[in-house]
Amino acid sequence: MTTSRGRYYAGLQLITAVSNANLSLRRTCNAIAKAIAKSMGMTGCRVLLLNPKNEYLTTIGSFGLSDLYLRKGPLDARKSLPEVLDGRIAVVAHAPSDERLQHPEVAESQQVVSIVAAPLMRGQDTIGQLRMYSRETHSFSRLDEEFLRAAANICAVVLERAELLQFKERVKRSCAKTPRRALPAQMPVSSLKPTEFAHESEVEFANLLDFYQIEWLYEPRSFPLGWNGDEVSQMFTPDFYLPELDMYVELTTMKQDLITSKNRKVRKLREMYPDINIRLLTRKDFARLLSKYGYGPMGDARVEGVGRILYSHVQIQRRVRSLGRRISKDYVGQRIVMIGVLKGVMCFMSDLMRHISIPMRVDYMDISHYGGEEDVVKITRDLDSSISGEHVLMVEDIVDTGMTLNYILAHLASHRPASLRVCTLLDRKPRRLANVKLDYVGFEIPDEFVVGYGLDYKGEYRNLPSIGILHQE
Ligand code: PRP
Repeated sequence: MTTSRGRYYAGLQLITAVSNANLSLRRTCNAIAKAIAKSMGMTGCRVLLLNPKNEYLTTIGSFGLSDLYLRKGPLDARKSLPEVLDGRIAVVAHAPSDERLQHPEVAESQQVVSIVAAPLMRGQDTIGQLRMYSRETHSFSRLDEEFLRAAANICAVVLERAELLQFKERVKRSCAKTPRRALPAQMPVSSLKPTEFAHESEVEFANLLDFYQIEWLYEPRSFPLGWNGDEVSQMFTPDFYLPELDMYVELTTMKQDLITSKNRKVRKLREMYPDINIRLLTRKDFARLLSKYGYGPMGDARVEGVGRILYSHVQIQRRVRSLGRRISKDYVGQRIVMIGVLKGVMCFMSDLMRHISIPMRVDYMDISHYGGEEDVVKITRDLDSSISGEHVLMVEDIVDTGMTLNYILAHLASHRPASLRVCTLLDRKPRRLANVKLDYVGFEIPDEFVVGYGLDYKGEYRNLPSIGILHQE
């Protein structure tokens, strides 16, 4: 009969062998999860990666667990066995009744009884977790702990190596774009991306979110939509979850004939889970998003001029005047710094400031765009003077996805202004992907491509005095 020591020795041998077998990260982690579960006599195991802000855990490999269990919802590292974040091993004797778990009801429905979680450490920092699951009560011995710590150490090295490879790949790509660029001196901490995506468009979408530093999770939750007796017969797993907006996003960019069935599923999901916020991004929506940065099919679309005027010059002026008056009233007795992001804001900013009756000064910023040379946003023009202790009013011509504003607000907040508010002329809410609070809004506009009064299409149309909808083929 094999002793526990013998099983653990064989288990570690297997784990080191798969770690060095040059498999993809997911396959390596699946194999490690399997070896751990088998060695410990557990039903299932998964390898979880912690995001850089230590908020969320994402599965990067698993064994023996149902899709429903793996995708039971975003896993909050501070709510689900939080002691593991501090480097401790957590042992759960009865999962359905344990308050340290975030989704005990799913544990119950999936008959998970015991859970053991161990941290994956890089030096003193926790970078992920190993979680083992059992359908029976599992007693956890000293030897189990020793094995688990050893397996976790190997797994942490696997993650570190994967991170290094991804980093090298990124550096290679950016050096190819700008050959004479200096190599970054240091690898960013925990920059590993956990996912192998199903489609190229998902990679692009994830890159776009990364560029603007918008937190995302990939397929963290499956929603059962139909049952056959006790069995789930229909399930829907949205592609992304954006925690800041508490919003799921489903990309339907591949086959357009899938849209009808996707729409049906999304409708059903909304009926069955009314608290869930989900957005379907069609191929057209996605192309629009990318066209903003000058590429993607719509970046090359033929434009036939302005199809319809949305707001005339007179309507704009009336609205700008009333915004100016409201701002002057709200800040009475104070002085403000108005900050605009170049270049679209120029018309609005110059009209707005002429209706501000309190003391004020202006400043401008500019940031690099997605699709450029960098992998993350860079400030290409920073403020001329300090805003520390000042009342700052950030002015935008349009808030769309909110990604530009989200990034800039975080940057401005780090300079410790006395207050920070936002005024935008246009708010195109249907396209929102980042959670930004708008204090003053000129007009809420529909999901149309608008130009004029500072807003451009490929650099043109900014000079139109009115705002019109661009007619595209
Ligand atoms: C526009 C606008 C905002 C941004 C909003 O700028 O001026 O800054 O888009 O979009 P978002 O909410 O999706 O981030 P753009 O990048 O088109 O440059 P421009 O101002 O030079 O026209």
